[in-house]
Amino acid sequence: MQVVETLRWNNGRLEMIDQRVLPARFEYLAYDSAAEVAEGIRAMVVRGAPAIGCAAAYGVALEALACRGLGAGEFSAALQKAFDVLAASRPTAVNLFWALKRMRAVWQGIKDRPAGEIAERLLAEAHEVRAEDIRINRTMGAYGAALLKDGARVLTHCNAGALATAGHGTALGVIRSAVEAGKRISVIADETRPFLQGARLTAWEMVQEGIPVTLITDSMAGHLMSRGEVDAVVVGTDRVAANGDVANKIGTYMVAVLARRHGIPFYVACPLSTIDLGIADGAAIPIEERAAEEVTGFRECQWAAIGVAVRNPAFDVTPAELVSGLITEKGVVLRPDQERIAALFG
Ligand code: MRU
Repeated sequence: MQVVETLRWNNGRLEMIDQRVLPARFEYLAYDSAAEVAEGIRAMVVRGAPAIGCAAAYGVALEALACRGLGAGEFSAALQKAFDVLAASRPTAVNLFWALKRMRAVWQGIKDRPAGEIAERLLAEAHEVRAEDIRINRTMGAYGAALLKDGARVLTHCNAGALATAGHGTALGVIRSAVEAGKRISVIADETRPFLQGARLTAWEMVQEGIPVTLITDSMAGHLMSRGEVDAVVVGTDRVAANGDVANKIGTYMVAVLARRHGIPFYVACPLSTIDLGIADGAAIPIEERAAEEVTGFRECQWAAIGVAVRNPAFDVTPAELVSGLITEKGVVLRPDQERIAALFG
């Protein structure tokens, strides 16, 4: 099942689905430079941690290709600027910085070679970042699918689907893999205020594939859990600290607390590229604050009182103690803690 190509390379350009306008419109936007890609990430044309990492890798490659006619010094300066502009696009998803580090290592390994050769090598690496992401999601999907019983009703928050990755998805990848394995799975999608990734993107992906999905507002999750209507929670993540604390879309923490209250397993689908061993615990994870307009209304419609003060943290941190398991490409880490996470990189 590969129904959406979130990002694709076409005729020397990066094309990305414009996720701001889904599901009303399905269209690709084309990108030619690192600055354009950085703006696409900032504006959330592309979003979701692994997809942001892939886009950034292509952003570096695009800049190298555009500048390959320059002299060595100017080429290096342009590439350095590309890394800086991409790194400043969004702060929370560590996959962005993981991908940039990987691209920089490739560059540094061949930095004395002609610019054209460096550019081709960077493009090949960006293609590999993308292909690897799909392979990893499929591996995680198989591990995660084994955790879901036939008939499971799975609640998810935000969109950790094909649209948030190069394909297949992390949390929705687990659900897709379970369905492919013949299990009857139904999805409960939190709408995910304020950007509505659940209502607009997760619901769209599931409807496209005929996987049963029911949309709820975020505040309905506890009620459904209390009535025994949720068997498991599976979400994605933007950054996991060394001790297992999980940053994900705002509202995830609330879902995790509710799941614990009702004895429902809370799983986090998490490629190793999302684990940040450099951050000891969740308190140190940078949390993006976005524009007030995302809370006071949607697109042209403003519903909040003009002049009201607004907070709009885009992510929250779920303490590791509330996480039943991290689903990774190296297997499921039950009750994650510092030791078990370190062992993944052993
Ligand atoms: O603000 P977004 O839409 O980029 O946030 C996305 C999420 O929080 C996802 O759950 C996370 O990136 C995991 S995507 C596989």
